[in-house]
Amino acid sequence: MATFTARMAPLLVVGLALCLSGTWAVDKGNFKTCEQSAFCKRQRALKPGESPYRALLETMELTNTRLTLQLINDNNKVRLLLELYRLQGNITRVKINELKPLKPRYEVPDVLIREPTTEPLSVLSQDENGVVLSLGVESQRVIISARPFRLDIMEGSDVLMSLNSRGLLAFEHLRMRKDTFSYKVTSTVASVWDNIKRVFSSQADPEAEKKEEADPANQAETTKEEEEKVEDGMWEETFKSHTDSKPNGPSAVSLDFSLPGVEHVYGIPEHADTLRLKTTDNGDPYRLYNLDVFQYELYNPMALYGSVPVMVAHSPQRTTGIFWLNAAETWVDISSNTAGKTVFGKMLDYVQGSSETPQTDVRWISESGIIDVFIMLGPTPKDVFSQYASLTGTQSFPPLASLGYHQCRWNYNDQEDVKSVDAGFDEHDIPYDFIWLDIEHTDGKRYFTWDPHKFATPKEMLQGLMDKKRKMVAIVDPHIKVDSNYKIHNEIRSLGFYVKNKDGGDYEGWCWPGSASYPDFTRADMRAWWASMFAYDQYEGTMENLHTWNDMNEPSVFNGPEVTMHKDAMHGSWEHRDIHNLYGLYVQMATAEGLIQRSGGVERPFVLTRAFFAGSQRIGAVWTGDNAAEWDHLKISIPMCLSMGLVGISFCGADIGGFFKSPSTELLVRWYQAGAYQPFYRAHAHLDTPRREPWLFGPENTALIREAVRQRYTFLPYWYQLFYRAHVTGEPVMR
Ligand code: NOJ
Repeated sequence: MATFTARMAPLLVVGLALCLSGTWAVDKGNFKTCEQSAFCKRQRALKPGESPYRALLETMELTNTRLTLQLINDNNKVRLLLELYRLQGNITRVKINELKPLKPRYEVPDVLIREPTTEPLSVLSQDENGVVLSLGVESQRVIISARPFRLDIMEGSDVLMSLNSRGLLAFEHLRMRKDTFSYKVTSTVASVWDNIKRVFSSQADPEAEKKEEADPANQAETTKEEEEKVEDGMWEETFKSHTDSKPNGPSAVSLDFSLPGVEHVYGIPEHADTLRLKTTDNGDPYRLYNLDVFQYELYNPMALYGSVPVMVAHSPQRTTGIFWLNAAETWVDISSNTAGKTVFGKMLDYVQGSSETPQTDVRWISESGIIDVFIMLGPTPKDVFSQYASLTGTQSFPPLASLGYHQCRWNYNDQEDVKSVDAGFDEHDIPYDFIWLDIEHTDGKRYFTWDPHKFATPKEMLQGLMDKKRKMVAIVDPHIKVDSNYKIHNEIRSLGFYVKNKDGGDYEGWCWPGSASYPDFTRADMRAWWASMFAYDQYEGTMENLHTWNDMNEPSVFNGPEVTMHKDAMHGSWEHRDIHNLYGLYVQMATAEGLIQRSGGVERPFVLTRAFFAGSQRIGAVWTGDNAAEWDHLKISIPMCLSMGLVGISFCGADIGGFFKSPSTELLVRWYQAGAYQPFYRAHAHLDTPRREPWLFGPENTALIREAVRQRYTFLPYWYQLFYRAHVTGEPVMR
């Protein structure tokens, strides 16, 4: 289909040079494998077997809607508190935390849209082996077995899901560092002691304390605990040149889920992989840790820019979901008893009567926080979508224009350039709605500013677009140039809003502007301040047709461990370790709030983000980051966006044409055609690539691209309708 014209020759030469220069490959050495991530290695070393946990049935308490029960680890005698709730809409919530942690453990805020509505629970039967609870719906029950502890959710005689049936519940309790304690009572340790005293005295129940002291199990706790060996990576971990100081020591949590009857599981984006998740027995688990991965590889469980810890399990009989609400680095293992069996093999099993029920087993491992899991019991896919939506909200309803075509590149050089690209669309009769400006539009990568020479009169430029009912997006990244002449930096610093390093100073890293600090978006007051910066009188040169793009919000720190923030950086009293996967969501949340506020609450905002988490769907759009101009990247954009849609994030797209390298004309045209049927439709290209506006490839190809973009516009009312349904019901737009 490609028609080569003389005009394209220079493009081809440069494109070829780019393609040939350097092979496409992620530098895997920059990113941890499970083996290189101390907690993942420790947890994965635990093999299925009998769980050391026992449910102490005598501690069970049941109010109308809340069941609590202590679990004890028979190896170290540490107790956990299990809470179980039945939530409205066929959801069961299981929370497990330490009964008495040395200090509070992080519980993810701001992701659930509200405290979920609970429904009554009742005990159907109980003996020394366990408890049977009624879940109220049909014949659904929860069976809590005591020795070892496991939890089965049943409907009639079918087991829908089992927790800890493989004995992989593990909870690394917070503890004092033993190896240094005897000889190094530093001020830090002393203050930890103060903390312990404070925690215990505020919770003090003298009766309970007396009872506890008398309990031989608790005395054993001390002896056993002292014997616990300190492994490498528990109190300090080094990766490449970075040392993670781990002041709180090991704090990982892990739990297994068995899904009888299930052969297909989906979700847990973001990975550049097939829609159906693969078993991980022979490689690494799927990793959820928001990272800026340069030249990401396809068909791979490595982490990417965003994380949604939600898995959807599907069989012809039933669809269920697991939402693991934890924002720390997380790994997910998947195994299946039918993996590797061919259809013929399965049929043979069946004929020979030796077929066992297919089953998928999954195991979630997070570095810190608590276990807070929502089990969405379907039974249909739509039910799971609406159950998940009832917890974290639905896709925001986008402005109609944002469903049209977006023209982006790094960078449109100046106002003249913008004007001529804009005119190009008219000249070639190709519809478009948004033109985008990347980082070069700023005054030296100082966001909220304009380059005084190239973009001297931004309002004039925006007005020109507005006259044609067109819009612009400008990038605003969360790394702030450390520069005492930069208002934004000075204000954030003086308000004390920057993330702190482990020693209490403002955290500094290296990013596009050079030395940069990172606002602490986990703070509501910081987010309110950030939002106020989008007001027309603050963000000079802006008008209502200027929207925003948040990039690098994993956050990307060029000189940080795995190109991100040090885990021992501090957000108030929480470590970055606890909140990492939430950072990007908060950046986009604060930005969208700014756009809403500047319009007096009237306009629906459009904000694109690269990093995301569960709940990001409520805010705006996402894209799949820095892909490449290769056929395989076009192909992977489909399962990547489908996966996101299954877990609520419908407004998803990939850079049309591929970000790195130069697409062949045929690939570019095909990408325009495929992209027209993906929710977010934006062409984008790397700074070093030759220009590729739709009319640069000869009249025939321009016509093909024109046709694809027009098809998109023909279907715009349908897209709008699908988005409305996604907004109301949680159904994915791309199916
Ligand atoms: C990385 C983003 O993924 C890309 O889309 C953008 O063009 C560059 N940063 C420069 O801002």
